[in-house]
Amino acid sequence: MKKFCIVGSLNYDVSISSPEFPKPGETIHSTGFLLGLGGKGGNQAAALAKVGGNVAFVGAVGADAFGDSYISELNRYGVDTSGIARLDDVSTGVAVIEVNGRGQNTIVLHAGANARVTPDYVLPRIPECDCILLQSEIPVETNLAVVAYASSHGIPVVLDPAPARADFPEELFRGLAYVTPNETECETITGIEVTDDESALRAAEVFFSRGVQHCVFKRGKEGVIFLSPGEKPIYSPSFNELPVVDTTAAGDTFNGAFAYAIGLGKSPSTACCFANAAAGLAVGKRGAQASSPTFAEVEALLTSYGLKF
Ligand code: RIB
Repeated sequence: MKKFCIVGSLNYDVSISSPEFPKPGETIHSTGFLLGLGGKGGNQAAALAKVGGNVAFVGAVGADAFGDSYISELNRYGVDTSGIARLDDVSTGVAVIEVNGRGQNTIVLHAGANARVTPDYVLPRIPECDCILLQSEIPVETNLAVVAYASSHGIPVVLDPAPARADFPEELFRGLAYVTPNETECETITGIEVTDDESALRAAEVFFSRGVQHCVFKRGKEGVIFLSPGEKPIYSPSFNELPVVDTTAAGDTFNGAFAYAIGLGKSPSTACCFANAAAGLAVGKRGAQASSPTFAEVEALLTSYGLKF
């Protein structure tokens, strides 16, 4: 089986729901509250492990109760946590999440230990692996160092450029196997709003010109567009009929499931379909890691649509 290494963030999520987001200066009552494990790195690790992937994680938590429960939960999913540092002078990362009645969310991050995931810490701890997954909640210098390391070792990298920055260094994208932004992230990075095929192609050209091999644009309800230089786009619809309760970590679930399928040698179209199904199931439940499905759950959904993995 392929081995995946995820270098990234681990957060404790404090998630509160209400029919509408509060306005500045307004106090409102919630309709639900959830404490759980999150962080885009941790969510991708959980999603990948839950569908059957062999995952090692490199990152950091604080020496606090959040960090304790984080590591034991990832162990429960079968993730190799030996590359996670316990830092005693900083807290575990925290995300304060608001979810509205339509399942949309807003997130404020406190980086905590994630800010201390430095190149010096990470590079010696990357295990032998077949693929590396990155996001953007650790220092950009670390992601740059990992991209350079992966390139010199011939390891494909999947970068989820989330949260996105307009000033990402160009080298961050050099040689990436896959970049997987959502529409907002795509616009922040390329300056191009993806609304249709033509704009998707223009945005993809920006990534290709920086050295990306394949673009996977996550468009929520509109599904996914997979683009490779000189090839026809591949469209993969989302599972729109499923209930939307909480979209937190839908993108992370997509990435974990997508990487798993690509690692099995599935075609881009099959991998996107599998990942869309996993994300579709995740949005039907509250929470981040708690919401990502098992392989059997994804397979059952695909079967109910007459689809095979
Ligand atoms: O993508 C969702 C995640 O973003 C949450 O789990 C939160 O921790 C933030 O990292």
